[in-house]
Amino acid sequence: MKPTERIIFPLDVSSKEEALKFTTLLKDSVGVFKIGLELFVKEGPSVVEAVRKAAPNAKIFLDMKFHDIPETVRRAMRSAASLGVDFITVHTDEGGELLKAAVEEAGTVKVLGVTVLTSQSAESLKSIGFIDELTDPSKLVLHRARLAKNSGCAGIVCSGLEVKNVKDSLGDELLAITPGIRLKDLDVKSDDQKRIVSPFEAVRDGADYIVVGRPIRNAADPKVAAKIVAEDIEKAL
Ligand code: C5P
Repeated sequence: MKPTERIIFPLDVSSKEEALKFTTLLKDSVGVFKIGLELFVKEGPSVVEAVRKAAPNAKIFLDMKFHDIPETVRRAMRSAASLGVDFITVHTDEGGELLKAAVEEAGTVKVLGVTVLTSQSAESLKSIGFIDELTDPSKLVLHRARLAKNSGCAGIVCSGLEVKNVKDSLGDELLAITPGIRLKDLDVKSDDQKRIVSPFEAVRDGADYIVVGRPIRNAADPKVAAKIVAEDIEKAL
């Protein structure tokens, strides 16, 4: 994969018009467009088709982060898979039954298990009731990544701090998608991401794809910012 193909740009905007503005601008600078809850809830499935039309060579990642009883997720996955996207996310913390149900309905769509959100820290895990030994995000990530792999998921979402351990322990075939990417040259103010690494570090440690949102979206020139990210990735290949 070329460095640009490894960049996932989240269309974290609230309207189709804005999403298409970024899609058109960045279609040659990134490989995957991620449609998340903000945009999908507002615009519905037609936004998927619109993004595909605007960037026919890019992959589409529907970041639904499904989290419900297995039967509901199974049915939601059936609906989502019919949109013909490349990746869909499911939370791993409800266990294997839910993940297997999702994979069974996914067809050719690659199911990605979300392990521990990059906005979580040891402290926040403790505050939501995790016992001490599981407030170490790296242990929890590996545990959930193994669950995702054993349930047939194509990949997982984890921070760059855990990706090496996941790849070393579970093998290279399980795709690793890493958000929480920051670069000194592309600073982001008032941030919620806690477990962060640079594009170089993430790819060096085994990330197949990286999600880079605000450092590109908030840059004076998003295309230039995407180029800086691609150059940083290149150093790791
Ligand atoms: O680079 P930035 O922080 O703006 O990227 C935020 C994007 O990454 C959002 O679309 C968010 O949903 C996504 N994401 C995340 N942490 C995860 C999974 C996805 O921040 N574990």
